[in-house]
Amino acid sequence: MSGGERQEDWWRNAVIYEIYPRSFRDSNGDGVGDIPGMTMQLPYLRELGVDAVWVTPWYASPMVDGGYDVSDFTAIAEAFGTLEDAVTFIDEAHRHSLRVIIDLVPNHTSTRHPWFQQALGAAPGAPERDRYWFRPGRGMEGELPPNNWRSVFGGPAWSRVTDAGGTDDEWYLHLFAPEQPDLNWTNDNVRSEFDEILRFWFDTGVDGFRIDVAHGITKNPELPDIESSAGRHESALDPLEVSGAAITARHPHWDRDESHGIFQRWRAIADSYPPAGQRIFVAEAWRLRPNGLSRYLVSDELHTAFNLDFLGLSWSVDDIRRRITDHLALVEMVGAPATWVLGSHDVPRVVTRLGHESHWAHRGLDPSGTGTDLQQGLRRARAAALLILALPGSCYIYQGDELGLPEVEDLPDDRLQDPMWTRTGHAVRGRDGCRVPLPWRPDAPGFGFTTGEPWLPIPASWASLSVSEQRAAPDSTLSLYRTAIQLRKQHLDATGAELRWTGIDTTPGAPDAPDVLIFERGTRFRCVLNLSSTAAIAIPSDYTPILSSVPLEDGLIAPDTSVWLTKE
Ligand code: NOJ
Repeated sequence: MSGGERQEDWWRNAVIYEIYPRSFRDSNGDGVGDIPGMTMQLPYLRELGVDAVWVTPWYASPMVDGGYDVSDFTAIAEAFGTLEDAVTFIDEAHRHSLRVIIDLVPNHTSTRHPWFQQALGAAPGAPERDRYWFRPGRGMEGELPPNNWRSVFGGPAWSRVTDAGGTDDEWYLHLFAPEQPDLNWTNDNVRSEFDEILRFWFDTGVDGFRIDVAHGITKNPELPDIESSAGRHESALDPLEVSGAAITARHPHWDRDESHGIFQRWRAIADSYPPAGQRIFVAEAWRLRPNGLSRYLVSDELHTAFNLDFLGLSWSVDDIRRRITDHLALVEMVGAPATWVLGSHDVPRVVTRLGHESHWAHRGLDPSGTGTDLQQGLRRARAAALLILALPGSCYIYQGDELGLPEVEDLPDDRLQDPMWTRTGHAVRGRDGCRVPLPWRPDAPGFGFTTGEPWLPIPASWASLSVSEQRAAPDSTLSLYRTAIQLRKQHLDATGAELRWTGIDTTPGAPDAPDVLIFERGTRFRCVLNLSSTAAIAIPSDYTPILSSVPLEDGLIAPDTSVWLTKE
């Protein structure tokens, strides 16, 4: 990295911004975001104050699953640009003192990947097929899938191929879409080819990888049926719902011990790049045994992991405090940093989630819009942003959350692209509603995202949420994020990982005091989150507010508000 100073273990308290390239910024008017567009907007990210970006897959891909179906791990998707554009982006990001994390997708490839094409061209039992999980079917004619596993996107996890003469042949495994065949990580070629992929990108200068489906890459090679006692799998459509469900050590494809040898192998590669400890991995791991995440974070494996449990928070003191305490205890066991995540390209926008009384109501996203209180959602999302930015560890910001964008719940059916929509027979609308392109300026229909037609329509109501409208407005969500990130560096970077819960202030006028969450860091910093729906609370007289998620009135912290305080 040229430019900014190197910081030891930068990833322990970094603020990391997730870029979903298709929807970030289009530079050529084709309606799809691209890498030159990302490079153009680096000053925006610099101004926001984040330390790093995580870019979701930018590799060559037929885009069946938004790029998580990779057909070449060392080439760039045509719609996003060229390898040269990617190298320019990495170099320019570094010039802006931003580190770059890219996605590694080791669980599966696209069916268009040459490895899968070679497998199709080979006979059953040939080494080319061993890179994947090909098996004969069950039943008299092999007409039944080899086992009862289900795809995360709905339907069976197996599809059958035909041979060159059109005769039915073996089945192959795909835990996601049929266009995403699962790789067989017992195969030595797969292991060594991924070593080369890691080296290729480390050599181009990336600072780390986010590991897609880290909890699923290895399977029980016997491929046994899933017994119900091995862990729920059927409703995997909502990853949040199964987070923490009873996965056991016997589950044949989630959270298996065999994966850890692979992580150690990758860690050794990352560690071979000087200076020590700067190239890192962050795991996406959802379906785990109790305390499972800590197994991914031991010192010779992955550096950090998303704290996905936090995506399911309910708006209550007990729930939020429990999720914070549990995660801090878990990472402390292995000396890893905590991480805090409010949104991603896989879950409905935080504004909409917190706009429902029940945090799970978002599951049946609500095209009529009834039942969603977006004003409440935005207010709570702003309070939640100050909460996570005050916690020890690193924070992830999903693009657009800094603008307070809501989920787009009424996208026309014929524009939906998420494979979940078709795989569930239109029962689940899927994830497109959180992937609508960013509004940079208030001018429809392109909103400064594109001079053409955006790949998903941007709602007219987003004009006032656009970057240019929010940039200069001191009370905007964008300004809140920018100020919070700046103050976090100033007040919290040097305080270490410790967090102390403090008692409830017994200030007169605080009748709902049990609905207040208060913690301190260092000797002078305090964060207060008022979760009461009605009662405002007073600021203790020995503290001075430095930031509030909504303006303070008469020195009172209103309901659904977070405030940062310091003591002289
Ligand atoms: C997790 C990614 O975040 C998601 O978008 C993708 O569909 C699955 N992994 C499969 O790669």
